[in-house]
Amino acid sequence: MIYESKHALLKHKLTVLRDKNTHYKEFRNLVDEITMLILYEALADIEIKDIEVETPLETTIGKALVNDIVIVPVLRAGVGMMDGCLRLIPNARVGFVGMYRDPETKKPVEYYEKLPEKLSKPIFYIIDPMLATGGSLIATIDLIKRKGYKNIKVLTIISSPEGIETLEKSHPDVDIYTGNIDRSLNDHKYILPGLGDAGDRLYGTK
Ligand code: PRP
Ligand code: URA
Repeated sequence: MIYESKHALLKHKLTVLRDKNTHYKEFRNLVDEITMLILYEALADIEIKDIEVETPLETTIGKALVNDIVIVPVLRAGVGMMDGCLRLIPNARVGFVGMYRDPETKKPVEYYEKLPEKLSKPIFYIIDPMLATGGSLIATIDLIKRKGYKNIKVLTIISSPEGIETLEKSHPDVDIYTGNIDRSLNDHKYILPGLGDAGDRLYGTK
């Protein structure tokens, strides 16, 4: 399932994010804010259970999340989305996956992995600002599934139609929540209109 946000505030912030004159400090803040808006929508139908809570006046029935939530930033650009997720779910756990796209082949290269253990009914939310060819996210999902986990969702800020199609074919069970579906990929497999290289814009490396 692909879910594209229609939220007006998100679209406004995304426009500033795309602007080539937006520098890394503001870019980072915007990634943080947009991530919270996407995650908020992604969590709308998460499983909850009844629990008792005592207000200053009486005891009532409230709600609590049921699943262990694991946030998985794909290094390096995914780290830019991590703080926003942890602000919404402060007791989430975090697993890191290091993946970069080889500049020549455009294929993902895995270089790091550390996922939490001893999880109870975990839901994995993989975070990466860009879903371009889909290679990096597919390799990350493969890795998590190899560990025996099944409940996996993906959060991206911008996705290409090609990337969505490829990811859905490889992993039809994985829901994708995205801020925007853009037009296409260029010859270098960058998203158009996109925002350029998310990692470089987040960290000011170029
Ligand atoms: C970017 C982005 C994704 C990947 C998307 O990372 O953050 O991980 O490219 O491309 P794909 O869908 O075609 O795989 P990049 O390889 O630039 O690494 P970085 O985060 O370290 O900058
Ligand atoms: N990685 C990025 O950072 N941006 C793109 O448009 C494609 C891959």
